[in-house]
Amino acid sequence: MIGLPHRFIRVLQLSFTAYLCVAVVYATYHFAKLPWNDGIRSFPSTLRDSRWSSLKLPQSLDFMASYKSSSTVGELPTDSNINAGLLDDKFYWDTSKVALDLGMGHQGRVSMDEQLFLSKAFGVAMGPSRIIPFYYKATSEVDQEDITITTLITSNRFSVFARLVEHYQGPVSVTIHIKNETEHIRELLDSLHGLYTSSPSMSAHVDVHLVIDNFERQFNMWRNVARLFARTDYIMMLDVDFALCTDFRRAIRSSEQVVGKLKEGNAAFVIPAFEYTNASDGTDSSTFPRDKDSLLPLVDSKRIGMFHASWGPGHNSTDYPKYYTSKPGEVYKVTQYQSAYEPYVVFKKEGPPWCDERFIGYGANKASCLFEMYISGVSFYVLSDHFIIHQNHDYEETARKNERRYNRKIYADFKEEACLRYIRMYRSQGLLNTTLAYNVQTECPKIKNVARLFGQLGET
Ligand SMILES: *[C@@H]1O[C@H](CO)[C@@H](O)[C@H](O)[C@H]1NC(C)=O
Ligand SMILES: *[C@@H]1O[C@H](CO)[C@@H](O)[C@H](O)[C@H]1NC(C)=O
Ligand SMILES: *[C@@H]1O[C@H](CO)[C@@H](O)[C@H](O)[C@H]1NC(C)=O
Ligand SMILES: *[C@@H]1O[C@H](CO)[C@@H](O)[C@H](O)[C@H]1NC(C)=O
Repeated sequence: MIGLPHRFIRVLQLSFTAYLCVAVVYATYHFAKLPWNDGIRSFPSTLRDSRWSSLKLPQSLDFMASYKSSSTVGELPTDSNINAGLLDDKFYWDTSKVALDLGMGHQGRVSMDEQLFLSKAFGVAMGPSRIIPFYYKATSEVDQEDITITTLITSNRFSVFARLVEHYQGPVSVTIHIKNETEHIRELLDSLHGLYTSSPSMSAHVDVHLVIDNFERQFNMWRNVARLFARTDYIMMLDVDFALCTDFRRAIRSSEQVVGKLKEGNAAFVIPAFEYTNASDGTDSSTFPRDKDSLLPLVDSKRIGMFHASWGPGHNSTDYPKYYTSKPGEVYKVTQYQSAYEPYVVFKKEGPPWCDERFIGYGANKASCLFEMYISGVSFYVLSDHFIIHQNHDYEETARKNERRYNRKIYADFKEEACLRYIRMYRSQGLLNTTLAYNVQTECPKIKNVARLFGQLGET
């Protein structure tokens, strides 16, 4: 009586093990098969950075099981893309170098469940969310000192993203959000596969990270995902619908001064944003000006102007009049910062604050990233030879209006709270009177409650 269930369990165990083996073989087979099928020699598929790899099967199969359209046990998903990357779900790191240098700690490797680690890394975001880093990993060698474009895309922006990648020819780290509905996932992974194999530039330069959940959008969390997994020291936070007109990447990298400031971590370089006044002019990026000399006449004739001119505070801190009259090579500091400013900037990946993940939709999300960056001591500098131009498209107007209303309240609270955090931090460190705290000193007293506190502290 007792032996029977045991034997039964044993059979179950064996079946499960067999299932695992078949799954691995199947995944490996498809994984290996893809490159040659697609005719791209070094197609990267889902190979991950070694820091994000290990084998711990049951959980990943759990995940696969939840995405199968059929619930028949033992049936494998037909989309081979799903398998390969998901066999990895442990995060490793070695004993910290500092500890070893100090003669403390023992050489060793620590591992942690990847999902646990990611749930902490994105702990303020709405959950549950399944994050899959390096779903596709680019093949070309990455130069640490390069600038990675970090961006977000949804499936209806694939073609504009392809143009961006083709044009940039440098590292790109992109977050793609997928709604957690089986049909949608399959469909999207199929078109993503199509996109990724559509050009050698894609597989050479683009790292793709997936976020799968039931929420419409969490822009700031997606931004942080793209930044966290960028593989260079510097990143540019960009919206996918901008056309890169000038080669700011080369200009920045070849300027010792600019690189020096980037490296220090308290400067962010603004690439000014423009748009065509007549939307129909702004759809074909091949007609866009490629240098400032061709841009200026279009500005004079009012065919092109600052991006979102109807919402001045979004970009006017860039000081467009100054931009127009700057001499070639000039880099000027933003002196009229205000808290709605949301320029497109190049900055250091590690150091500046991350985007606050409580901003989940339209309105104030990017501004909040830049506000915290600013009061943390990062100043903005405008590269006066460079610019990007928005490619016109239709927005989801109703969603934008509702979410903006919601985020306006959050932003007001956020600014107050962020100011208090930084004031306290700099005060504790005895840095409140230093240049590092200059932005906090000038910006935060604009908020009534914070001004009162400043008064009480006798700091202003
Ligand atoms: C996705 O949906 C599946 C099936 O409904 C569910 O089991 C899983 O927990 C969901 N995952 C997330 C991240 O929402
Ligand atoms: C915008 O451009 C289109 C096509 O060139 C033209 O037909 C239209 O009149 C323009 N609209 C304005 C407001 O200039
Ligand atoms: C930007 O626009 C705001 C509101 O329209 C205005 O108050 C501010 O002076 C402008 N700043 C600059 C630098 O033009
Ligand atoms: C900061 O500087 C002001 C003016 O120089 C001075 O009154 C104040 O005591 C200083 N505060 C700190 C914390 O050093």
